[in-house]
Amino acid sequence: MSTEFDLGALLAERGAERYDLHARYLNPQLPRMLHTIGFDKVYERAEGAHFYDAEGNDYLDMLAGFGVMGLGRHHPVVRKALHDVLDLDLADLTRFDCQPLPGLLAERLLAHSPHLDRVFFGSSGTEAVETALKFARYATGRPRILYCDHAFHGLTTGSLSVNGERGFRDGFAPLLPDTAVPLGDLDALKRELKKGDVAALVVEPIQGKGVHEAPPGYLRAAQELLHQHKALLIADEVQTGLGRTGDFYAYQHEDGVEPDLVCVAKALSGGYVPVSATLGKDWIFKKVYSSMDRVLVHSASFGSNAQAMAAGLAVLSVMEDEQIVARARTVGELLKSRLAALTATYELLADVRGRGLMIGIEFGRPDSLKLRGRWTMLQAARKGLFAQMVVVPLLQRHRILTQVSGDHLEVIKLIPPLVIDEADVERFVEAFTAVMDDAHSGGGLMWDFGRTLIKQAVAGR
Ligand SMILES: Cc1ncc(COP(=O)(O)O)c(C=O)c1O
Repeated sequence: MSTEFDLGALLAERGAERYDLHARYLNPQLPRMLHTIGFDKVYERAEGAHFYDAEGNDYLDMLAGFGVMGLGRHHPVVRKALHDVLDLDLADLTRFDCQPLPGLLAERLLAHSPHLDRVFFGSSGTEAVETALKFARYATGRPRILYCDHAFHGLTTGSLSVNGERGFRDGFAPLLPDTAVPLGDLDALKRELKKGDVAALVVEPIQGKGVHEAPPGYLRAAQELLHQHKALLIADEVQTGLGRTGDFYAYQHEDGVEPDLVCVAKALSGGYVPVSATLGKDWIFKKVYSSMDRVLVHSASFGSNAQAMAAGLAVLSVMEDEQIVARARTVGELLKSRLAALTATYELLADVRGRGLMIGIEFGRPDSLKLRGRWTMLQAARKGLFAQMVVVPLLQRHRILTQVSGDHLEVIKLIPPLVIDEADVERFVEAFTAVMDDAHSGGGLMWDFGRTLIKQAVAGR
């Protein structure tokens, strides 16, 4: 077989054009934004929780590719499974046979939520949510979905209908019939359920935006109310699932919570292959797939593909062998307690919250006059600029990648690969302390950068 295609040679020849190619052919705002904040790095290689540039500098990843790199990059076991599955020359995606890998992955996944029975495999978090919304509407025969203020469930049209931020929704109407309820407000939930047209409440047990956790008892009480009104509870574990919060699923922090549908994606394939899973109760699946005529009523061309399934099986196996869930809990507690201790020292540091390795660091109005003036000026220009002022030096000066946890929020979210170790925690705490020292000294580069951000925010209005 002759081949002209050489991936390594192509990258060697044209890799340097990466930012220009994006500017020309893809979303032009990404390279623009990266140039503006000095995030336009060239990472050559990655391993575990670290990236490396051409000079061999080591960057600590506290973002995990928005959570997909649960096991860090290039875990050898997942990588081997992918090599193996390619080398096996499987008759994948014939579409009219039953391959073993999807069944095996479903079996292994369902072992972590024994009250659920069946799985639909798709390719992205938003597809997992779309599936849950469709299944809930079909199974209940009702149109309306409830969601929580500030929720994020993905950006395709159905998931967008249950998005709690106007910024994402504006201009895309009409969406599905929906209603937002505040996370934790059972009275609001009850009021909506009484109308009799609600299929489900979809909820992130810990919201990705702002890292807000459902108050204790809420999920269980909500589940009871929903069931009383013949509606379903959908847990969106796309970000919180697979050990992120120190339990396999975040809903498991509370006894007695048994969601009717659970959405999983991101970390399931170790970051290599797009994959998602919607887990549900038998009766829901049996209703949707009620006859042979309806066998393809909800399906996806790439669903259950062998690479995704093989990677998923390898990930679950590594999670067990390396006790990833317990590790996320222990290292997460260490990181959170080290950061929480800093709130006594830094008046700009308002709160440290979250579970496992999903941690929110919130900044707030300082008491001292000197800092308050600067803080107020930033807030007047745009909320979220201070958090941006922290994220930028963390990368520029300390080579640590983090993100602001949503637009207009003074919260940084840490969702590192679950394999970070104590040395990574120390490195982060040291760097964060240095950045906080700088911010509280009131002078220096950081506030100069703040002034640049204010100018940009005002110009962008
Ligand atoms: C809770 C939650 N649900 C759904 C999604 C959408 O996932 P995807 O980007 O794979 O479509 C995300 C993505 O961040 C998420 O955090």
